Amino acid sequence: MHVVTLIKGDGIGPSIMDVAVKVIAAAGAKIEWEEAHAGLAAMTQFGNPLPEATLASFDKTRIAFKGPLTTVVGTGFRSINVALRQHYELYANVRPAKSWPGIKTRYDDVDIVIVRENTEGLYSGLEHYLTPKKDIAESLAVITRTASERIVDYAFKYARDNQRRKVTVCHKANILKYTQGLFLDVAREIAPCYPDIEFDEKIIDAACMHLVMNPQQFDVIVTTNLFGDILSDLTAGLVGGLGLMPGANIGADAALFEAVHGSAPDIAGKNLANPTAVIMAGAMLLNHLGEHEAADRIVNAVVKVVNEGVHVTPDLNPNSKAGTVEMGAAIVAALA
Ligand SMILES: NC(=O)c1ccc[n+]([C@@H]2O[C@H](COP(=O)([O-])OP(=O)(O)OC[C@H]3O[C@@H](n4cnc5c(N)ncnc54)[C@H](O)[C@@H]3O)[C@@H](O)[C@H]2O)c1
Repeated sequence: MHVVTLIKGDGIGPSIMDVAVKVIAAAGAKIEWEEAHAGLAAMTQFGNPLPEATLASFDKTRIAFKGPLTTVVGTGFRSINVALRQHYELYANVRPAKSWPGIKTRYDDVDIVIVRENTEGLYSGLEHYLTPKKDIAESLAVITRTASERIVDYAFKYARDNQRRKVTVCHKANILKYTQGLFLDVAREIAPCYPDIEFDEKIIDAACMHLVMNPQQFDVIVTTNLFGDILSDLTAGLVGGLGLMPGANIGADAALFEAVHGSAPDIAGKNLANPTAVIMAGAMLLNHLGEHEAADRIVNAVVKVVNEGVHVTPDLNPNSKAGTVEMGAAIVAALA
């Protein structure tokens, strides 16, 4: 039995996480959930967006399954997602985007994995106003050789272990010569250690255009924190939207699995949220725990239901009458 910290999160979080937990149970995985709280819900309930009890649970289990957490724009507490990633040094954010045969998009053969540096860059939390009038502000991007080496090395190892052919580093070293320059230098130094993996480099703005026009040229992308955040929503858009894209946050001795999307306040409480991304994140969690059979069964069941396109949420089929709960039930039925 594996003990896993379960954080249901904000907005659509509790509804999609309840479905995911049912699917994981139906697949026969031996998981004991230890429920903990974080985000806006925890702030409201306990006066703390990251209560000590949550950290104590994660300290013990070293593995968490998390729903999205709301971070209010511009004001309020700092992102708890960023805090958790930094606190547990979950340095690799792995986000696979693969075309689904049943989902009609611009391309039907996208298969890209974003490997995003998850602990530093412009998300280092170093920002302040420079004047009392608050009319000038600055945010500092911190790039270290150590963190750059470990993420680039992770991307190449991931490529090798998962039979991938190519790693592309996306950067802005033409303008940000020190921070992005360091990241690019490290990528160029590490690439020759993996002669079996092709290496490519692209400036981030051009990479966005290439991703939209010819995504087939990309395989594994490694990039810094902010660029990875943006590129993973772009690649989610290439394969059918945020409701489909899972993510893993991997550290040396801890890991956290979640969807790429946020708490979607616009559809919260309406039974409209697509649970696929968190269910696929659950499958990534099971693979991480060595529960490969249950993970494979879940992936097959989700693929069947999504590709049939009948019992799916309206983001996948606007004519569908099914919502979060009905789609979850269809996936559980497909497992049987
Ligand atoms: N990892 C996380 O916890 C995480 C990630 C991103 C954003 N956020 C937070 O979420 C909040 C809302 O952010 P946002 O609106 O920019 O992004 P979002 O990802 O929540 O939503 C963007 C759009 O995608 C849709 N969408 C998202 N998930 C969906 C799903 N499962 N099924 C169907 N449609 C879905 C939403 O309805 C919305 O129109 C913010 O507070 C943000 O900070 C959290």
